[in-house]
Amino acid sequence: MKYHSLTKRLFSKKFLHFIILCNLFFNVVIGADPIPSAAPPISGWIPREMNLDRTEIPKNILVVVPVGGLSHLRHILTISNILADRGYNVTLTTKGTFKLSQQYPKINFISLGEVTDFLNNPEFVDLVQGKFNIGKLQNIFKKRFDSYNSTFLQLKVISEIVKPDLFFCDTLNNEPCFDMAWVKNKPFVGIATSVLGLSRVPYKSDPLFECKVSMENESFWERFRCEIISPLKFIWTLRNSFGEFNEVRASYGLPTLKNPFDRWQSSLFLLDNFFGFEMPIPLSPIIQEIGPVLPDYYPPLTPDIEKFLTLHKRTMFVALGSFLFLTPENNAKLLQSIIEATENGIVDGVIWANIVKNRESFPPSITLSNGRIISTSDIFENKNPNIHMASFAPQFAILNHTNTKLFLSHSGAGSAHESLYTGTPILALPITFDQPGNAEKLELAGVALTLDKLNLDVNDILDKIKRIQNDEQIQSSLRRIKTLAIINSNRKYRAADLIEFTLHSSALNQKNINDDNKFDDKLIFKDLITPDTRMGFIKGKYLDVYATALVIFVSILYGILRGLYIIGKLIYVKLFKNEDKEKKE
Ligand SMILES: *[C@@H]1O[C@H](CO)[C@@H](O)[C@H](O)[C@H]1NC(C)=O
Ligand SMILES: *[C@@H]1O[C@H](CO)[C@@H](O)[C@H](O)[C@H]1NC(C)=O
Ligand SMILES: *[C@@H]1O[C@H](CO)[C@@H](O)[C@H](O)[C@H]1NC(C)=O
Ligand SMILES: *[C@@H]1O[C@H](CO)[C@@H](O)[C@H](O)[C@H]1NC(C)=O
Repeated sequence: MKYHSLTKRLFSKKFLHFIILCNLFFNVVIGADPIPSAAPPISGWIPREMNLDRTEIPKNILVVVPVGGLSHLRHILTISNILADRGYNVTLTTKGTFKLSQQYPKINFISLGEVTDFLNNPEFVDLVQGKFNIGKLQNIFKKRFDSYNSTFLQLKVISEIVKPDLFFCDTLNNEPCFDMAWVKNKPFVGIATSVLGLSRVPYKSDPLFECKVSMENESFWERFRCEIISPLKFIWTLRNSFGEFNEVRASYGLPTLKNPFDRWQSSLFLLDNFFGFEMPIPLSPIIQEIGPVLPDYYPPLTPDIEKFLTLHKRTMFVALGSFLFLTPENNAKLLQSIIEATENGIVDGVIWANIVKNRESFPPSITLSNGRIISTSDIFENKNPNIHMASFAPQFAILNHTNTKLFLSHSGAGSAHESLYTGTPILALPITFDQPGNAEKLELAGVALTLDKLNLDVNDILDKIKRIQNDEQIQSSLRRIKTLAIINSNRKYRAADLIEFTLHSSALNQKNINDDNKFDDKLIFKDLITPDTRMGFIKGKYLDVYATALVIFVSILYGILRGLYIIGKLIYVKLFKNEDKEKKE
């Protein structure tokens, strides 16, 4: 009875109108100043209006993204666009020439010089294709610190033009950004898809340290190695290049960095990720979890791909990132797997994106398990009706299509976010950097299976494609995380809010400049800095109190035990010695 009347009410005309109205409001309100979302509960009541007075807030923002290509630009451009909509003058500088001004007409673009061609650097190729170890990072880090000088000088010129009131910095290879902010006496805000070394907990590590992400079920030795030995090895590997890098910085009068995360740690840091995908850990308030940041608009399906997807009800989408690559052997195994997957009906279609530029690293023909030989060029010319090779693929729209049943991905953070948002399970083939860690997190979240680039096997690939589609557990975990991704995607507005607040706070604090003519980050972000950071290590962690409590506890315990011993001894003496005496008598 109750249910009936409820459903009746839910679907009554008035209620439907109300929902439509709410939706209308919701769509209009987001991004603009919020308007109260419903009629007043009692007629005559006055709405609370949320008017943020922006007249006092300085307006120039310089966004700096030195490396990483489009995948690193997406989140930062999305947030910058919100700020531009709110009236800020946002200028983005990046290396290379991306044709973005058409997509983002409200943002100014200035080039930060040429991209260094690291794709052909043998050390980079080895890192991408071979087994990862910390030693290999040494040379990469050296190169990265070498590029500091030129980026810093270029940024100096650009800062003269833009006169930024705030620097918004991608964290990858971007020490020049916070250094220029220091020189110009302006605040900066960092953004990345992982917490890097900013928030360390012992039970979380990373394949970058040759450890598991979650140390929950690891042995004592493993936990010891990952907590003590691997970090020391990492610091040891970095020490030379880091020292040289500090010397270059010192020549510009910049303060020495104690560690690579030193400066990011003391300023607002936006984490473009969300717990559910990211492994949950406690974060200091100065690190704000605001992801997944996804743009509002996406390119639609191309007519080719739309037709393909309509005809193939169980399609697998393959995309391995825009600038990473596999060995020729792995390319051959992957191609063989997708041919066999379609021929054996494990999926009925495959779309493979970003492939044309890698075409020369495929063998001229592929031999299937049953001995048949397939010409690779036929596949590339799309002569196989069930395999579509695409040089451009609108990734989000493909993932969003109901007929896309799984995503074979390098598990870069951006791709993972889109996949989770659209509820598409992932078959991860991580290549390097953060990807092995992402793959492990996705598997922990129960929404992915993982392949090993060093041990790729056709039967294993086919088996996992089958399992992903049939596993009820994966499908239900996916629905759960999809909801989380959708509700959390609204937090990009919070990211923009926090940047506005930083600007305002810094303008109010410009007067409180200290002795060496530098203002204090600690004042700008005082609302987000926990008191323990000011209390020193021992007081901040309450070690003095716990140590005293331990001493008192041990003393009392000792006192009690000592007392019992004395009493016991007395009783013993009274009973047994007296007996002895009696016997003697
Ligand atoms: C916005 O910044 C650009 C520099 O990137 C500058 O040329 C332009 O004059 C600024 N606009 C306003 C309204 O301040
Ligand atoms: C560790 O083991 C427990 C109990 O078997 C399990 O619930 C948990 O998911 C495991 N954690 C990881 C990271 O494998
Ligand atoms: C940095 O660049 C400037 C200008 O090109 C040059 O004079 C200086 O020697 C460079 N410093 C280092 C450490 O490379
Ligand atoms: C995603 O799918 C939904 C529902 O099928 C549709 O309304 C929306 O337009 C799609 N978005 C894109 C970018 O394709």
